[in-house]
Amino acid sequence: MQEQSIETSDPYYVARRAEIATLADRCGPDDPIPTIKYTEEEHEVWRLVCEKLAARHRTDASNEYLEAAEGLAVPRERIPQLRDISRRIDSLSGFRFRSAPALVPFRDFCNGLAGSVFHSTQYLRHPSTPFYTADPDMLHDVVGHGNVLGDKRFARLYRLAGEAAARAESEAALQFIAKVFWFTLECGLIRQQGTTKAYGATIVSSYGELNHFRGADIRPLDLKSLADVDYDISTYQKTLFEADSMDHLEDVVGGFWETCDDNTIEALLELQPFR
Ligand SMILES: [Fe+2]
Repeated sequence: MQEQSIETSDPYYVARRAEIATLADRCGPDDPIPTIKYTEEEHEVWRLVCEKLAARHRTDASNEYLEAAEGLAVPRERIPQLRDISRRIDSLSGFRFRSAPALVPFRDFCNGLAGSVFHSTQYLRHPSTPFYTADPDMLHDVVGHGNVLGDKRFARLYRLAGEAAARAESEAALQFIAKVFWFTLECGLIRQQGTTKAYGATIVSSYGELNHFRGADIRPLDLKSLADVDYDISTYQKTLFEADSMDHLEDVVGGFWETCDDNTIEALLELQPFR
């Protein structure tokens, strides 16, 4: 018998997530992001996690992340409304949030990115596990992705990822774009002031990942070597990739997403033709 997680075995939590997901489901692309009346318990989870993360960010997050987070100034004491954060990001970089009921399939997620739209959840992780969530939640989406989406250089990389996925026709090409996304915008590291810093959303939004990433096998950012590494989104990453600088990240990853198609990915992976 499969063990149930706390997220699926707590009937109150299941109902609460379903309630918030229903609001997202009913929200059309041009409708305002739903207003959620968060409970005091949810506000407390937000406050606790934001406080812990902020302390770690000062030593472990990249300069670009810290500067963007300062510019966006996401409230730490109370959960903000996603609509308000979206407006602020829009004014900084042109990106907007759209409410999502849960994890969005990669192709749909990327179609949003190509149009400067990021699908964000509005529910929070279970209160008994404030420092861990298997699924993306609003803390991950706002503290991890939202902060860098306010930075024009990162916003461009997200847009380029979306455009690259829109051009990909084969499943193998799409999977490789997803892998590059995973090892950079989700789990990416960057060399700054002689040390390794994090900019990837999964790492900067997770207290556990922030404690763990320096113990991973950290390799220089290179698409060919990245192609040879498998990943599992449900656990800490054994292998991570570090860019030399923001320019390096933009050259290697931005340059790839800007021009890639099924043929160039096939050549990079030295695969048989996809079709
Ligand atoms: Fe994410």
